[in-house]
Amino acid sequence: MTTAYTDLGTIEAGVYPPQEDSHLLIDVMIAAGLAPGAKVADLCTGSGVVALAAAQADAAEVAAFDICPTAVAHARRSATAAGANLAVHRGSWARAREFGPFDLVLANPPYVPQAPVDDTDDIPADAGPAQAWNAGADGRSVLDPMCTAAPHLLAEGGTMLIVHSECSNAEQTVTALRSEGLAADIVAQQMIPFGPVMSARADWLMSVGLLPHGATMERIIVIRADAP
Ligand SMILES: C[S@@+](CC[C@H](N)C(=O)[O-])C[C@H]1O[C@@H](n2cnc3c(N)ncnc32)[C@H](O)[C@@H]1O
Repeated sequence: MTTAYTDLGTIEAGVYPPQEDSHLLIDVMIAAGLAPGAKVADLCTGSGVVALAAAQADAAEVAAFDICPTAVAHARRSATAAGANLAVHRGSWARAREFGPFDLVLANPPYVPQAPVDDTDDIPADAGPAQAWNAGADGRSVLDPMCTAAPHLLAEGGTMLIVHSECSNAEQTVTALRSEGLAADIVAQQMIPFGPVMSARADWLMSVGLLPHGATMERIIVIRADAP
């Protein structure tokens, strides 16, 4: 697949720089033809790269959400520079319910399991802020409530795409979405080299069974859920 990702210029400190997970999510959205004409929400927008890709793929409207003021400012600037019509809201992804329902909900949430010992100082600043990846001991502190909220965010026949790591249990995401009445499945996977956060946590992740022993790469996974 050869998606042309929007150049967002320099990503300032404090904003998650678009990475393989951002790009895999965009690739799946484009390949599935989900954006054209759709009312879209991007739940954890960061730099705005996924929201912008939806806008540039002819979404009817795009609402983006992030708790980080630096990310919100960056996403707004990127949208202006690209001439894209994005409404970027500062606040929790859960605010999306106020603006829904949506035909398409996109999420690259924080999903990295968090070691009991604070390792923030071991992770280079250009990996983005800790709130972009830290997601509790099992990596599911955002994923679980997002799965529960999914049917309330989606319009009839709407689709949700979520990307996360194998470390945060994709089968659990599929099961949680199905238990909410959605048709859910894994639709894309990619092996990627460890980034700085995974490198810092790999030994701990292996020791608690969240990564296979000896792993040197991580599998990232896109889950699709469709509302009836
Ligand atoms: C992994 S980054 C993804 C950024 C971007 N969507 C991308 O794909 O490159 C996760 C983002 O979620 C934001 N975030 C963390 N908790 C959040 C919450 N409860 N509600 C909304 N955004 C949140 C972080 O500030 C960060 O920008």
